[in-house]
Amino acid sequence: MGVFGYIGKKNAVPILIEGIKQLGFQGFDSTGLAVFEEGRLWVAKSTGKLTELENKVNARTFNSTVGIGHTRWATHGRPCDENAHPHIDCRGDFAVVHNGIIENYLELKEWLLAEGHIFRSETDTEVLPHLIEHYYDGDMDTTVRKILQKVEGSYALIALSCKEPDMLVAARKSNSLVVCQGEEGCYLASNFSAIPEHTKNTYVLEDEEIAILTDNGVNFTDFQGEAKDKILYEVNWDASVVEKDGYDHFMLKEIYEQPKALRDTLGGRLTEEKVVLREVALTPEQIASFNKVAIVACGTAYHAGLIGRTLIERWAKIPVEIDIASEFRYRSPLIDEHTLTVVLSQSGETADTLAALREAKRLGARVVAITNVVGSSVSREAHDVIYTWAGPEIAIASTKAYTTQIEAMILLALFLAQAKGTISQEWIREIITELKKLPDKASEIFKQVSKIQQIASSIKDSACTFFVGRGLDWSVAQEGSLKLKETSYIHAEAYAAGELKHGTIALVTECTPIIALATQRDLYDKTLSNVNELKAREAQVIGITFEGNESFGQAVDEVFYLPETINELAPILTVIPLQLLAYYVSLARGNDVDRPRNLVKSVTVE
Ligand code: AGP
Repeated sequence: MGVFGYIGKKNAVPILIEGIKQLGFQGFDSTGLAVFEEGRLWVAKSTGKLTELENKVNARTFNSTVGIGHTRWATHGRPCDENAHPHIDCRGDFAVVHNGIIENYLELKEWLLAEGHIFRSETDTEVLPHLIEHYYDGDMDTTVRKILQKVEGSYALIALSCKEPDMLVAARKSNSLVVCQGEEGCYLASNFSAIPEHTKNTYVLEDEEIAILTDNGVNFTDFQGEAKDKILYEVNWDASVVEKDGYDHFMLKEIYEQPKALRDTLGGRLTEEKVVLREVALTPEQIASFNKVAIVACGTAYHAGLIGRTLIERWAKIPVEIDIASEFRYRSPLIDEHTLTVVLSQSGETADTLAALREAKRLGARVVAITNVVGSSVSREAHDVIYTWAGPEIAIASTKAYTTQIEAMILLALFLAQAKGTISQEWIREIITELKKLPDKASEIFKQVSKIQQIASSIKDSACTFFVGRGLDWSVAQEGSLKLKETSYIHAEAYAAGELKHGTIALVTECTPIIALATQRDLYDKTLSNVNELKAREAQVIGITFEGNESFGQAVDEVFYLPETINELAPILTVIPLQLLAYYVSLARGNDVDRPRNLVKSVTVE
């Protein structure tokens, strides 16, 4: 879900439509907006594509200069017009858009119904405008602060009233909300990629803060009404960067941007001799005091964490635990001041990951974040932040974020190993030399894209597929499996190659394509014997291995050869053909590649 607001000198409707469009990758089963004009609020909402909403608002010429907008990914209440935001009170004097979950909405709704309020939707959000209506005392700012004392849960909300149409009031708890002050007015958005390009001055609302926007400025307070001074962020993304640059889809563009993203993420962090992570303020003594590393993330970020786990243990000799964020919080993790917790999140707003970060801090751990968004919640709440400089990742299927997150994990693992003296200078030098070559080797892979297109057409009608590998290849297999599933809707499962024979191989027939990864040289023979077991069951095996591994290439039905690199850096190259495979299979199946069904770019609800 995404919220957007504007107040200023320009016509609000086209600005709101564009803001909703830019937020659309956060969830888009329904959209809506509200503006103030001729003494009243005008509300339009619709399910489905944004063009439905545009048709509704274009039926009338608006000249309003203030409004709010919303794009929804349903949590409470099915996608329909009534459940779309903005929600209004009984008389239509107050409109609210909201991203998050009101956890005590049922008791609030029961009380409001008993007080005579009329509800129109099934949503949790609708309690907010009715609470404002109930408590309105002539001042929107104090009223919003008053109702929030009764609300439990997470929210980024914006309220508009026809009684005070010269202001927008916004509040934040857990879910991101940024404020931009531009020449033509002030903007509010769930993330700043939705803000028009000519506004660069950005403020980030912190938890339990209120922003009051008028067309000549913005003030911030806490929930008690105390004024807050805010840091001004200079944001250097502009809208042109977010366009597709001639690619058919954002996903393809972002796959091809990886060499540049990898180069940018290394920028300033390597000398010939060592890794330099100025943004991680850990002394060798502090690093020596860690007896454990805990890695926490979701989805693709979690798969990047899997690579990090192997490399931190192998190079820095620190035991590593890795958890899916939504599980971490509820397993009573043994975390304390001797634990270094690493959270990975492209958006920096994933609710489960943010909650895990807060739990780790509560337990006394040092937290390092790896994220792609400057000013994101994760970046501001961690003790240290290693930014991936991948640029905006718009496609819901994460690609360049994954490879740059692996790069950041490699840098962190080396940084820890350097401090602990657990890795030779010669080996560090070799890894750094190889790291610098990776972007060009990644570019080499694109020259074989026709091979991937051919493999994609051979598996596009499969009912299910398996991705298998050993060691780091098994970790990458999990990412390859997710990529294919979430874009093509073909069921895929990643398996440790040595584990298949313990049951799952019963599913393998001549109609089951298997993608077998073999880049870990010390495990070549074992993986080859697993492939032979699969071939004995008539499976169609597609191998991905390094140039020169002919014995493997001859054992499989199709083989894709990667430029050689050292074992530990292989995941960054191995995943690229898997990303391309997912893209072309999804394309062949006529799917919405950039916006697969049921998915959003950042899961900001638990
Ligand atoms: C990746 O392709 C998925 N869209 C999804 O798994 C994503 O990686 C996950 O939701 C985590 O997002 P984050 O990195 O923004 O926290």
